[in-house]
Amino acid sequence: MSYPKSVRIVEVGPRDGLQNETAALSVATRVELVDRLVAAGLGYIEVGSFVSPKWVPQMAGSDQVFERLVRSNETTYAALTPNMQGLQRATACGVREVAVFAAASESFSQKNINCSIAQSLQRFAPVVAQAQASGIQVRGYLSCVLGCPYDGVVSADAVLSVTEQLLAMGCYEVSLGDTIGVGTAASTEALLAHLVHSIPVDRLAVHFHDTYGQALANILVALQMGIAVIDSSVAGLGGCPYAKGASGNVATEDLVYMLDGAGIEHGVDLHRLIVVGHWVCQQLNRANGSRTGLALERAQG
Ligand code: HMG
Ligand code: MG
Repeated sequence: MSYPKSVRIVEVGPRDGLQNETAALSVATRVELVDRLVAAGLGYIEVGSFVSPKWVPQMAGSDQVFERLVRSNETTYAALTPNMQGLQRATACGVREVAVFAAASESFSQKNINCSIAQSLQRFAPVVAQAQASGIQVRGYLSCVLGCPYDGVVSADAVLSVTEQLLAMGCYEVSLGDTIGVGTAASTEALLAHLVHSIPVDRLAVHFHDTYGQALANILVALQMGIAVIDSSVAGLGGCPYAKGASGNVATEDLVYMLDGAGIEHGVDLHRLIVVGHWVCQQLNRANGSRTGLALERAQG
């Protein structure tokens, strides 16, 4: 079986993780979380989002988080921007990488960003163009690629069409989101096989929520198909407030453990990361969702 030699891990805990927690962390604690993740070796951190604070109050203050961060040139500090207002906020605090986020299902698009898929793409086009003109890189997200909490089944052709439109618009890659974690190894393989007929694998990333415990199996399939960018969240935090029943992302600790087992390079110090996972769960007063984090904590007594 062949795997990529190395992968880029996109750590989404400070954004996807915290956006779904009932307790909002202070700006200082959010900055500390990002700093700790960087110190554990993560080279790409999604720090926050410039969305409406009425829609996602947990992400209010992302501006201050960026302003307080002492950023290193070796690390990418990214943020979600759903519209021009979001991009303006990101630009004002010196963000160098943003992400626009679309959906493959109409109902999720309406619930999450209050517009249709076509309207969202029309809204993103000037955001991407303006970002590029300012030297800001743009990543694309596509939600509900393996199922929608409102519409159920999502067709692979719908996923292909929106992915192609995001790439044509100027997104350098599209992260395929199994937002509610319903995908299995078989459905992941079928979807990716359909996509890679027309899209180069190096333009694709995967983003699995672990609601049904399938995320690592699905990631393994993606790796075997040559995808080398994987989104994950420290301690398995995460979920989308507009995706009923969605649980956390695959835990970064569990992903790193699996990559180590396959000899795939990733640059993360697992033991330091595990400490970060336990620390953030204490801050949030919640259980740690990383099986590897819990197992190694027990093993160390
Ligand atoms: P809307 O209500 O249609 O927006 O929301 P609007 O343009 O009509 O503006 C309404 C109000 O929002 C105005 O304020 C605007 O100023 C304000 P008011 O005049 O009423 O006081 N507003 C903003 N404020 C701050 N920053 C902004 C901004 N934009 C408008 N950027 C909107 C449309 C897109 C803004 C809203 O629906 C929204 O914020 N949605 C975000 C939802 C969200 O963040 N979801 C979670 C992230 S996506 C995700 O988790 C999935 C992912 O992980 C992948 C996966 O798992 O599948 C990425
Ligand atoms: Mg997500």
